[in-house]
Amino acid sequence: MRCVRKVTEDLWWVGADDRRTALFENIHPIPKGVSYNSYLLLDEKTVLFDCVDWSAAPQLIENVASLLGERPLDYIVLHHLEPDHGAGLRAVLARWPEAKLVGGVAALRFVDQFGLAPVKGERIPAKEGERLSFGKHAVTFYAAPMVHWPDVMVSFEEREGILFSADAFGTFGALNGKLFSDELDFANRWLGAARRYYTNIVGKYGPQVQALLAKAVGLGDKIKLICPLHGPVWRKDLGWFMEKYDKWSRYEPEEQGVLLVYGSMYGGTEQAAQALAIALAERGAEVSMRDVSTTHVSHLIAQTFRYSHVVLASVTYNADLYPPIRDYLEDMRALEVKNRTFAILENGTWGPKAGEKMTQFITQELSGCTVLEPRLSVKSTLPNDREEELLALADAIARSVKG
Ligand code: FEO
Repeated sequence: MRCVRKVTEDLWWVGADDRRTALFENIHPIPKGVSYNSYLLLDEKTVLFDCVDWSAAPQLIENVASLLGERPLDYIVLHHLEPDHGAGLRAVLARWPEAKLVGGVAALRFVDQFGLAPVKGERIPAKEGERLSFGKHAVTFYAAPMVHWPDVMVSFEEREGILFSADAFGTFGALNGKLFSDELDFANRWLGAARRYYTNIVGKYGPQVQALLAKAVGLGDKIKLICPLHGPVWRKDLGWFMEKYDKWSRYEPEEQGVLLVYGSMYGGTEQAAQALAIALAERGAEVSMRDVSTTHVSHLIAQTFRYSHVVLASVTYNADLYPPIRDYLEDMRALEVKNRTFAILENGTWGPKAGEKMTQFITQELSGCTVLEPRLSVKSTLPNDREEELLALADAIARSVKG
């Protein structure tokens, strides 16, 4: 059975939902699945924009075949060749070997590196500003290198104002039949998935995303639809979503508030962190609290991009950082997290070292990040007679959050 949806009069979504893959890129948990978005244009020429993961290729073939009927597939446009939507190309070419491949030079090279075109047919390298007409519809290509791989290009269809945005403006989550963002409660139920997708997949490449946004701004209100490779298609509130991308790619927090991440072995650090969260809440600060040992780091990264302040509360381990806290800090460095204010709560039963190590990492490895004073140092558990010290830290954080 075909599973397709009309996007516009001549354009169809022919992609697939994946609810079986546990880890996107074999790293990031996707308990609500993910969609691989592929689009088919039926014009004087027929054009498939991108493919799907290999596991979804049979559905893609069935979708495309049902819409093409007896028509040939003339072009396959490859905006990005990462195998989550590139691997299905092999099956598509096996069925329609005459299709011409259109893509950036790097994407066409990756086709061969991944062995996706055993028989080499006609290829059309696309360059910045080049236009390709398919009849009533034509697209112009814009390079978007490192959003998210070096091969990435986006294209703009001028008749209906469609931006094929590749990985940009994507979201984790299977679509479950609802193709358009305005069919979902996106702001309340999907924004977290979009933030986690952006920050972990493209988060490192803020300047490149800014360059792409500048090209989009150049197109202005000519953009009526955004068709990404994952998640819903945007036909309303495009500016709202672009503003989120603008903030994330500038490494500006969305909210003044505190992400409190704690690493606790026997409960003493967690208890002190809990007392700090209460004191912060009493001071009117927004607080979100996560256990580093049971929260996947992709969620921590997403929340780090969201909030202005991060409190790290951690035990000392092997006279050094607690390993999951080190992983979190390393991920922040890898994704080039910037411009956040930190506060430190350390624990060490006989030789606390975590505070010093965390402070060193933040000030030496993360750009534009500062650590508030005072630092609270706990020995095993925090006794009630040291409450004043905890409240002093809460005062400093709350003052800073309020600016
Ligand atoms: Fe959806 Fe960078 O692949």
